[in-house]
Amino acid sequence: MSETNLSHTKWMKRAIYLASLGNNTTSPNPKVGAVILDKNGYLISEGFHFKAGMLHAEAMAFKNLKKHAKGGSMYVNLEPCCHKGKTPPCVDKIISSGIKKVYVSIQDPDKRVSGKGIKLLKESGIQVHLGLCKKEALDLNKAFIYRNITKKAFGVLKWAMSIDGRIGLKNGKSKWITNEESRSLVHSYRAEFDAIIIGGNTLRKDNPFLTTRGSKNPEPLRVVFTKSLDLPSKSNLWDCKKAKTIVIYDSSTADESYLTRIPKCVEVEKVSSDNPELISKVLAKRGCNKVLWECGPKLATAAIQSNCIQEIITFIAPKILGGENSMNPFGDFEFREMHEIIKLSDSQVSFIGDDICVKSLFKTNF
Ligand SMILES: NC(=O)c1ccc[n+]([C@@H]2O[C@H](COP(=O)([O-])OP(=O)(O)OC[C@H]3O[C@@H](n4cnc5c(N)ncnc54)[C@H](OP(=O)(O)O)[C@@H]3O)[C@@H](O)[C@H]2O)c1
Ligand SMILES: [Zn+2]
Repeated sequence: MSETNLSHTKWMKRAIYLASLGNNTTSPNPKVGAVILDKNGYLISEGFHFKAGMLHAEAMAFKNLKKHAKGGSMYVNLEPCCHKGKTPPCVDKIISSGIKKVYVSIQDPDKRVSGKGIKLLKESGIQVHLGLCKKEALDLNKAFIYRNITKKAFGVLKWAMSIDGRIGLKNGKSKWITNEESRSLVHSYRAEFDAIIIGGNTLRKDNPFLTTRGSKNPEPLRVVFTKSLDLPSKSNLWDCKKAKTIVIYDSSTADESYLTRIPKCVEVEKVSSDNPELISKVLAKRGCNKVLWECGPKLATAAIQSNCIQEIITFIAPKILGGENSMNPFGDFEFREMHEIIKLSDSQVSFIGDDICVKSLFKTNF
């Protein structure tokens, strides 16, 4: 790589780093960072997008500008916007600043705007270079991109199990399989997500809080998916001061008289079938880019079968539960041949005390 290319990469990596400062806060928007250099290649400003409704990265960089940008260049990890949303279009600001070159990692995935921002910049005489640090930029905003293209929320399934692959005893007892450190890591890990999903049975059996224990404000939305609506009238999820909760139920199977058990502060949404894909769609519509499925075997199996899961994270404890009837993380997928089984990729392994954490990816087709 030539010295010039190296320095372009360096500035785009800086923009990507700035974008990552919006981790956990920008949904439904993407994470974007911008760097401005003057005509001699010196850094004169930078910015990032923090939250929907607040300045876009490019606009923040212009706001922070110490001297004029005429003849200079900009590095930004996502195509600048050209439509007026909650804030004015960034393309107009770039054009009027006199910037001559714009380096963009990836196009906006939204088909309605994709390529238009770049086209407008080019039409005004600005040189646009697309594709710098593309892989890193795609990775940073993969959940945002996934939601925009599929209209579904990017799903991560998480479970905790013993070394013999069990998530609980046959009597349902499972507290606790993993160590304290792993459990507190899960609390902070939840902050990466816009919503956390369980099924009605996990609510009945475990009565979880599903919060980050204060590491994100507001807390992620808590979602209960139920076919029956047979939920208890007392539940930690009904405490709306801690976090918002929504109950999504299948109107064709539920007994709606149970609605009286759910307090008014909890939102309720009807869907017309028990296909978990509907949750991914409902949550995407509400602006959730990335959601965490913390459900038991039945809903986890259904969620995988209906393509709601793009990544898994499992915590494995060096403990043996044994027994044919202990709980498995999944039900039967009805595979009959080895070529049918689910193969994951890109595994990352880490140790949390003597627990092991494995993250792997599903093949994501979109
Ligand atoms: N170790 C771990 O990581 C872990 C994590 C989560 C849960 N668990 C354990 O798992 C057990 C619960 O397992 P579970 O499989 O019953 O979990 P679940 O998370 O409650 O999912 C099943 C429930 O989801 C609802 N549901 C809605 N649509 C569905 C569909 N299409 N397919 C399946 N379910 C649908 C139903 O609720 P309704 O019955 O209300 O209609 C159903 O009973 C508990 O003992 C809990 O402790 C362990
Ligand atoms: Zn913008």
